[in-house]
Amino acid sequence: MTLCQNGNSANRNVAGQRPLEGKLAIVTGSSRGLGAAFARQLASKGSSLVINYISESSTAGATALATSLSNEYSIKAITAQADLSTTDGPSQIVTVAKQHFTNPQTNTFQIDIIINNAGIVLPEALGSVTLENFDRQYHVNVRGPMLLVQAALPNLPTDRSGRMNREFTSY
Ligand SMILES: NC(=O)c1ccc[n+]([C@@H]2O[C@H](COP(=O)([O-])OP(=O)(O)OC[C@H]3O[C@@H](n4cnc5c(N)ncnc54)[C@H](OP(=O)(O)O)[C@@H]3O)[C@@H](O)[C@H]2O)c1
Repeated sequence: MTLCQNGNSANRNVAGQRPLEGKLAIVTGSSRGLGAAFARQLASKGSSLVINYISESSTAGATALATSLSNEYSIKAITAQADLSTTDGPSQIVTVAKQHFTNPQTNTFQIDIIINNAGIVLPEALGSVTLENFDRQYHVNVRGPMLLVQAALPNLPTDRSGRMNREFTSY
């Protein structure tokens, strides 16, 4: 887990151009691909970030992304390496986030945005689908997002300002 924070206000846009200023977003699977693009878009609007990924080989890339977005957009970004397919991986992401973020308005820990982006696709003809591969996909693509939202539940806003989505492709 790495922490990047840039206190430089030179990059801060004028009010109105950063509608997500002070918000916190968790983006699963954001070390690369679409997740990294979502993270960049959120950062450009002022949101702080938890950049989640799974592979050791992605640690350098995720850390570099957190540093780059922190510097470019004057937000706070941390990385959280955790496997969404496990029973405790999703709650680990929330635990790590809790250690680093406090909402500036409420002075409490709040998760404003969850982008359930991480996903895997293991294409197989219907007649050849193995239970092992079905379970692997189900645990990352379906159970992981449910467990993440469940873990985040006590820390979601209650004024309808929160946002969640789920990216998904399957065969
Ligand atoms: N690419 C497309 O054309 C397309 C189209 C429609 C929908 N989608 C959906 O969009 C999402 C992202 O697609 P993508 O092509 O950008 O994916 P990608 O390039 O393969 O990146 C996958 C990301 O998910 C992470 N990840 C994978 N398994 C994980 C796990 N068990 N726990 C935590 N993180 C995990 C990876 O981390 P590591 O870097 O550590 O491996 C990586 O950050 C997927 O859900 C996909 O189904 C993609």
